[in-house]
Amino acid sequence: MPKNDLVLVEIKDRVALLTLNRPEAMNALNSALMLELMDTLEELDRDDSLGCFVLTGSAKAFAAGADIKEMAEASSIDMLLKDHIGPFDRITRIGKPIIAAVSGWCLGGGNELAMSCDMILAAEGAKFGQPEINLGVMPGAGGTQRLTRAVGKAIAMEMVLNNRTLSAAEALQYGLVNKVVPDERYMEDALALAAEIAARAPLALRMGKQAVNRALETHLADGIAEERHAFYFLFSSEDQKEGMRAFSEKRKPDWKGK
Ligand code: HXC
Repeated sequence: MPKNDLVLVEIKDRVALLTLNRPEAMNALNSALMLELMDTLEELDRDDSLGCFVLTGSAKAFAAGADIKEMAEASSIDMLLKDHIGPFDRITRIGKPIIAAVSGWCLGGGNELAMSCDMILAAEGAKFGQPEINLGVMPGAGGTQRLTRAVGKAIAMEMVLNNRTLSAAEALQYGLVNKVVPDERYMEDALALAAEIAARAPLALRMGKQAVNRALETHLADGIAEERHAFYFLFSSEDQKEGMRAFSEKRKPDWKGK
């Protein structure tokens, strides 16, 4: 596993906790951190003993955005040739569910990273925003697209054009996050949610995640057709037989991920 300690990994049972580790810079997402994060996620995704990931930052900041100091003097050509935002796409190809456990600042690229996860659990003091307008730019890693799909045009426009910051309660109200919990409980609750999900049928999780994400990308008829293929496909798994037999036999299923 790549190790510059920009991302810390702890594994407990079937859950991997990934912690962004640049606390001195509010977890600003520089290139080295993004590469380490994506390499780590891809490696963990290949490990069948894991069922779910939690991605978190520090209590003060999930992440305060892309690293402004790293890109301040870059030209358009530098950004293009380095494919500065490319690593952000890699998280969308991870098969296992990822829960973002957000406390403190969740800004710019940090919010875009959280929105690329599958669920967001927020501490009540968390703050969500797209402050790129203050830097003379705009969001570049999904902050106009995923955000608008999540909160709708009205709130997205305020966030992108006028740096409106959402409290955790507002983020819940507008559909950006799944759940808000007391500050002191966010890690514990995120890990408990992840453990619950990690205990579920692995193939059904993987295909269900993929199908829900497709809903944001495709036309209804195509999405419905893909969903149906995935549903039929799961009938070739041992877990489908096990799940349905266990129901009839009134016992807990024993999932194999096969
Ligand atoms: C680089 C950052 C940073 C960032 C914070 N730091 N955010 N460094 N890039 N995005 C550094 C500060 O420079 C400072 O370093 C240290 O972290 C602590 O931050 P402070 O500002 O002193 O803390 P505080 O006063 O508590 O304010 C916290 C904050 C503020 C509100 C989060 O730091 C802030 O506004 N940060 C920038 C947020 C932002 O604009 N994000 C969007 C980035 S653009 P020193 O060395 O001074 O101690 C973006 C585009 C994405 O994300 C496009 C796709 C990739």
